[in-house]
Amino acid sequence: MITIAVINQKGGVGKTTTCVNLAAELGAMRKKVLVVDADPQGNASTGLGFQFDDSKSLYDVLSGGEELKWALHSTSAKNVSLVASNINLVGFDLEMSSATGREFLLAHALEQAQDDFDVTLIDCPPSLGLLTVNALAAASRLIVPMQCEYYAMQGLSLLAHTVQMIRERGINPAAQIDAILLTMYNPNLRLTREIEAQIREVFGTHVLKTVIPRNVDLAAAPAQGLAIRDYGRSSRGGEAYHDLALEVKRLWL
Ligand SMILES: Nc1ncnc2c1ncn2[C@@H]1O[C@H](COP(=O)(O)OP(=O)(O)O)[C@@H](O)[C@H]1O
Ligand SMILES: [Mg+2]
Repeated sequence: MITIAVINQKGGVGKTTTCVNLAAELGAMRKKVLVVDADPQGNASTGLGFQFDDSKSLYDVLSGGEELKWALHSTSAKNVSLVASNINLVGFDLEMSSATGREFLLAHALEQAQDDFDVTLIDCPPSLGLLTVNALAAASRLIVPMQCEYYAMQGLSLLAHTVQMIRERGINPAAQIDAILLTMYNPNLRLTREIEAQIREVFGTHVLKTVIPRNVDLAAAPAQGLAIRDYGRSSRGGEAYHDLALEVKRLWL
């Protein structure tokens, strides 16, 4: 099983959209996929058709030692299972701030899923707090979605610094930014093209070939609890996420 964390401490860059749609595309390619919604806002959960109830969530797994298998839910996407978020996750950082091994709770929990899934995708919250550290500890690959805008490079160096710290402290000695995904891409904007050129120069082959265009269907699909391939597959957004899944599969699966 490979574990991909979709990470960027900046909000609104397309983490959740990437997580949900990449999961659905890989599921359609007959991969057994697990989505872990590690954002207390729960957008990946609702985006995959999950309706919040009092069933077991990621919070129970991380804080309560619940077995992962009791927190698995099916989703609207084929071959995609979900460990849903829960509002209780908001308090996770404080609650666990002095617990030993707090960085490795998710990594340990995912060991139970090793044999049942081909790929796990972790949807990270927009912060560099303990949930994100848990994702970094558990991940074998990092995908960083980002928009081609002025502050993007600064945000990226902060993230690179965090990843370096995770490596140096031995939390995950192999952690590195494996792939940068350009999202909400608009080639007609000069700023987009300039920043893209800059990012590709600095990060070279770590920038994925696939770019995700700005596409209204991608923003509308979550309201139906559907991934783009089940909502508007032939939309430009749908095609882009299909291409992304092919690229990810070629690289890592
Ligand atoms: N490629 C895109 N085109 C248009 N809207 C998008 C695209 N990607 C994401 N969105 C929308 O932008 C908002 C932020 O995206 P989201 O995936 O939730 O970001 P994050 O998880 O990083 O906060 C959401 O409303 C989402 O539907
Ligand atoms: Mg999100």
